[in-house]
Amino acid sequence: MDKKPIGIFDSGVGGLTVFKEIRKRFPFEDIIYFGDTARVPYGPKSRNTVIDYSIQNARFLIQQGAKIIVIACNTSSATALIDLQKLLPVPVLGVIEPGALSAVKSSGNKHIGVIGTEGTIRSQAYSTAISKLDDSCIIFSKPCPLFVPLAEEGWEDHEVTQLTIKEYLTSLLHKDIDTLVLGCTHYPILKTSIQKFVGSKITLVDSAQAVTDKLDEILPNRETKEIGKDYFYVSDNEVKFKQIASKILDMEIDKLIKVKLGEGWFLK
Ligand code: DGL
Repeated sequence: MDKKPIGIFDSGVGGLTVFKEIRKRFPFEDIIYFGDTARVPYGPKSRNTVIDYSIQNARFLIQQGAKIIVIACNTSSATALIDLQKLLPVPVLGVIEPGALSAVKSSGNKHIGVIGTEGTIRSQAYSTAISKLDDSCIIFSKPCPLFVPLAEEGWEDHEVTQLTIKEYLTSLLHKDIDTLVLGCTHYPILKTSIQKFVGSKITLVDSAQAVTDKLDEILPNRETKEIGKDYFYVSDNEVKFKQIASKILDMEIDKLIKVKLGEGWFLK
């Protein structure tokens, strides 16, 4: 029986949407989550910076004993997945390919919208992954950078959020899309407001469930009835993280540890 934890990281609170799904599906696994709240957002940062941060985050999780790493961040998955898979001694899962697969399965008319951070959209990771699965799909992409601070602020249905959604998504509504990929793990926090704006005919896809399915294929069943433990780490702003986390997870985080990550390794 492998008692080592599943390691999950994101730039902040967004990856908790993935954590929630994994926790639900794997009640007996220990899970360790790291949110890089000192350095969020990753979306506008350069490729090399995102790769550096991702390596530091993953190494930290491995130092805590992680047996597998889930990159619960589309920007890191789009940029650093291959580097992490080469460098790390444990399996590494990203969210893009599972998300692309869900989108292709969901779309009837093959017109798929993809929204994400500037980094994710610039990388064309979703377009590439979707086209590989079905090259008849027509993909319309749009970066929505302001959604990340709105989600980090906990403004899931604030007036400012509704205006921002309208500003970003109006052009996509004219493309006859039937599926919209929430290509950033922060965006499901705004899901209700986004769905209200785009209407019920457009299916919203987020990769939390899809990446959990993938994890299910890889992880052997843990033969224990001992409920898994959660360990939460951030690099800054513990109070705010706890507040938003309690809304996303419907539970209070009682123990949250702040760590400082540095170049090549981490400093406590
Ligand atoms: N939640 C992350 C993603 O899925 C990153 C958002 C950001 O830090 O800009 O892309």
